[in-house]
Amino acid sequence: MAEIGQDIQQAKALLEAGELVAIPTETVYGLAANGLNAKAAAKIFEAKNRPSFDPLICHTNSMEKVESFTTNIPKKAYALAEKFWPGPMTMLLDRAPVVPDLTVSGLGRVGVRIPDHELTLSLLEQLDFPLAAPSANPFGYISPTTAAHVNDQLGEKINYIIDGGHSEVGIESTIIGFENDEAIIYRLGGLSVEEIEDVVGPVKINAHSSSNPAAPGMLKSHYAPSCPVILGEELKAMAQQYAGKKVGVLGFDYGLENIPAEDQFVLSVRGDLNEAATRLFMGLRYLDGQNLDLIITTLVPDEGLGRGINDRLKRSAAKG
Ligand code: TXA
Ligand code: MG
Repeated sequence: MAEIGQDIQQAKALLEAGELVAIPTETVYGLAANGLNAKAAAKIFEAKNRPSFDPLICHTNSMEKVESFTTNIPKKAYALAEKFWPGPMTMLLDRAPVVPDLTVSGLGRVGVRIPDHELTLSLLEQLDFPLAAPSANPFGYISPTTAAHVNDQLGEKINYIIDGGHSEVGIESTIIGFENDEAIIYRLGGLSVEEIEDVVGPVKINAHSSSNPAAPGMLKSHYAPSCPVILGEELKAMAQQYAGKKVGVLGFDYGLENIPAEDQFVLSVRGDLNEAATRLFMGLRYLDGQNLDLIITTLVPDEGLGRGINDRLKRSAAKG
């Protein structure tokens, strides 16, 4: 198992030596390595069992550092950075030659993010390279929102996990790119579409395709627990349909009376979408540990962080 702690100097030394360290962020925990060192970044793909065609996001702590490994930053990107960084937003920017092919899977753009977490920001401040970091879960599985989640799944493969508590946002960053100066959303996430549109006007959303060439990692099936997740219209009717099976319930703001309490997880009793996002992966993970035949769930209101939650629910329910 990995060592878990808050020793930034130890994390820094490991990263400078080309090793892996798991880092807390406000969205989910990341599995980090030096993003400018292909050998170090290769260890991420290996530990996660991640296909090499799925590019990594590079994390740093200042716009000045962003400028050192990207080029042609559009005006709208500066406006978004000013408003939302540090925060749950990743931008796809043209990469400078210093970024190795492996980090970006040979693509022309690199995903960049300044995360909003005190410990990770203080680590990034002390590094003279960005940290490539995907979510710290085995490829295709549920993303981790605590140090313990990371340790459970990847503890054997990494040296050190920085413990930064529970990830507050709970779902991954919203990914934005630019085409002909138009902002396009490639992944719905922890920053709402509404907030983005307040800054840059109406944006196109291109986050549905399972074979989206701009974002090869956004596969249809993802975030999947080991038992099937069934997405339906109404929990009660679904529970009746699957009577006789051991059914788990992932409810938005209510559960069901005739299902054991321990087989249910309510995302937010007060129907708050931000709270639901924070608890989503925790809930999926919890139900996954209950030895269920299947998990039934429904979509949440499609507004604010609800869009990101619904995206994750659809992917966890998708087969193959
Ligand atoms: O919130 C987050 O974004 C977390 C934390 C750790 O920052 N990271 C994260 O990384 O979710 P990951 O690798 O699990 O998901 C990143 C997604 C992938 O689907 C990948 O294909 C896409 O972003 N992506 C990364 N770089 C890209 C690029 N240059 N062009 C297109 N898509 C890219
Ligand atoms: Mg991921």
